[in-house]
Amino acid sequence: MTLKVGIAGLGTVGAGVVSLLQANAGVITARAGRPVEVVAVSARDRGKDRGVALDGLRWHDDPVALAADNDLDAVVEVMGGAEGPARALVEASLEAGKPVVTANKALLATHGAALAALSERTGAALAYEAAVAGGIPAIKAIREGLAGNKLSRVAGILNGTCNYILTEMRVQGLPFDTVLAEAQRLGYAEADPSFDIDGVDAAHKLAILAALAFGRPVDLSALHIEGIRHVSALDIALAGELGYRIKLLGIASREAGGVAARVHPCMVPVGSPLAAVEGVFNAVLAEGDAVGRVVLQGRGAGAGPTASAVVSDLVDLARGRLTPVWGAAEPMDTAPPMPMER
Ligand code: NAP
Ligand code: HSE
Repeated sequence: MTLKVGIAGLGTVGAGVVSLLQANAGVITARAGRPVEVVAVSARDRGKDRGVALDGLRWHDDPVALAADNDLDAVVEVMGGAEGPARALVEASLEAGKPVVTANKALLATHGAALAALSERTGAALAYEAAVAGGIPAIKAIREGLAGNKLSRVAGILNGTCNYILTEMRVQGLPFDTVLAEAQRLGYAEADPSFDIDGVDAAHKLAILAALAFGRPVDLSALHIEGIRHVSALDIALAGELGYRIKLLGIASREAGGVAARVHPCMVPVGSPLAAVEGVFNAVLAEGDAVGRVVLQGRGAGAGPTASAVVSDLVDLARGRLTPVWGAAEPMDTAPPMPMER
């Protein structure tokens, strides 16, 4: 029987999901064990051309109405925002027992613990592979793939827009604002691009990775967050002369008193794995006691990579592979609240 999906948001990611489900229907059906089809959608502007076929789909002006649409088996939230309709839709869907797939890292970093509790109470899955590092399957890798490890560190290049800006400034010699405008045109940047360039989006993703890796929610307000707004062409050139690349990194590590987490531009030696990650690519690094160091890289933003991650969650739902939001049913870490570096 078809998994019937409703999508709230038809921007870069939402239209990308509709397009991918249509283009790869055959292979997705085979992997999901049944067809996965979008049957209802919501966005603000009914008249906008989104470059995808929406004929025959039910349109809801109010996205929260998807939660009460009894014909739907799952809801995809790709509107964005930690509050407002995104939060209301995810809460209402979980409350109604309807599984949710979201790409919304702001929502998860801010309300993830409460949403996980709601998901557990109602038994409705909350899946969010697309929320961290775009097309890199970082959530499943850390939560499932490294489940046998005690993790000591998670880190990486977690914002595609910033990495694209830093790369284009260095390689093409383009001004910051010109490259940011291009990142917006390509659909990489957040609706409010200050989230990207001020490091907030990377902090949201780091908070999610740290919660997964260390088994406890992260207090976002305690993170040291510094973006790339003040990185100049001269900084980049001087770093290059010294044998370094400037990268915006998010780093969270297990320390004696808890966990330290921070986001800021770093000098990374040329020749190291992270220095080679260029353009819109992201990298996620994890260190476990059994596995040692694992580094994953791939496109961190944009329609195709993000849709790839959303669809992987829909395939899991269709198959009935339901994982608790923050991982195994292991109790949360009982260490005292984490002192974060300031
Ligand atoms: P976007 O292009 O700005 O699209 C947002 C969509 O949500 C638009 O279709 C918009 O409708 C709709 N929307 C916004 N407010 C609404 C409301 N009140 N009611 C109904 N519809 C509403 O954003 P995006 O880039 O696709 O990102 C969506 C989410 O995915 C965000 O949480 C973002 O952080 C996350 N994400 C994005 C990427 C990426 O590469 N872009 C990657 C990973 C995760 P209209 O089109 O009618 O205005
Ligand atoms: N604005 C985000 C980025 C989208 O540039 O990384 C992917 O999460």
